[in-house]
Amino acid sequence: MRSETLNIESIKDLQEKLSSLIGVSGHEEDVNNFILNEIETQELADNVWIDSLGNILAIKEGNNKDNRILLDAHIDEIGFMISHIEKKGFLRFVLIGGFDTRILLGQSVILKSNTGKIFHGIIGSKPPHLTSLEERKKQVEVSNMYIDIGLVSEEQVQDNNISIGTTGTLYSPFEEFPNGMIRGKAFDDRTGCNVLLQIMKLLKENEQYNDTVLFNFAVQEEIGGRGAVTGTYALNPTIALAIENTTAADVPGIRESENPVDIGKGPAITVADRSMISHPKINKRIIKNAEIENIPYQIKKPLYGGTDAGKIHISRRGVPCSVVSVPCRYIHSPTSLLKLQDLYNTIRLIDAFIKNPAGIKI
Ligand code: CO
Repeated sequence: MRSETLNIESIKDLQEKLSSLIGVSGHEEDVNNFILNEIETQELADNVWIDSLGNILAIKEGNNKDNRILLDAHIDEIGFMISHIEKKGFLRFVLIGGFDTRILLGQSVILKSNTGKIFHGIIGSKPPHLTSLEERKKQVEVSNMYIDIGLVSEEQVQDNNISIGTTGTLYSPFEEFPNGMIRGKAFDDRTGCNVLLQIMKLLKENEQYNDTVLFNFAVQEEIGGRGAVTGTYALNPTIALAIENTTAADVPGIRESENPVDIGKGPAITVADRSMISHPKINKRIIKNAEIENIPYQIKKPLYGGTDAGKIHISRRGVPCSVVSVPCRYIHSPTSLLKLQDLYNTIRLIDAFIKNPAGIKI
């Protein structure tokens, strides 16, 4: 491992930058400008371009042009879209992707106007003082919530370039916790983007890689893996890995048999989720490399979640696939919590997968 390139501090810095960008599905331009700039200024790929959906696709040529490994991470995040503007300037909204609606009320939000200006807001509904005891027992529907950004009329909202279709997301600042943990928004899946960028840096530094490595920083995963469909078609891989965040439920009230993964136990390898059964030979190659390099790993319990690999493995004539994830608590809430050591070990594992000749024939 070339430690001068890969260190926890630089991984953390990049995570903070990626996490604070806003890129709700279909409106990922800030994230893809940032990533494209990283790749171009540091010359991290032989070829990089943005496709018509907004995916950033990149190629790092190996000696062998026929073995083509795709690494996919999605750049979008879940959020909301403005659906109606009230006369007094309050904003009604619909959700883009799967938030836990029980936790929305009272949350701080961040919204990006159509000219890119950032507004902070609060999700409100009818105040508790004005609701009956019966009403308070029921969950508030999203259609009865609104966003208050301090603008006081429909005209003022329009003058600030906020309209039906404007997007935003829940606000949560990046912070460090004890025991090498960090919290922030959109770790799903800016963490995967971080892994891909770190892998590109390692590839640049070392010319002994044999296989050609393809990258898709994919749009619109949270609404059905749409960027993965077009990106995979264009890159035409022979095998693929989706790099993700996955739900660690190592918290009170969860039986061990129900918990998919733990934080702190290393990258999680998927055997099956709701969108795909991982190819056994790909998993064999991941595990063999983990053992060669002494990297901790865990097997994620089936069948939780779904990823871009659900689309990738049925692309063209079929692409043998698996998923490697950084375990993360509180995914799809305003904030996520992960351990930097798990992120570091995920990068090491993907690096080993590409570098080592532990190629198990497909
Ligand atoms: Co994800």
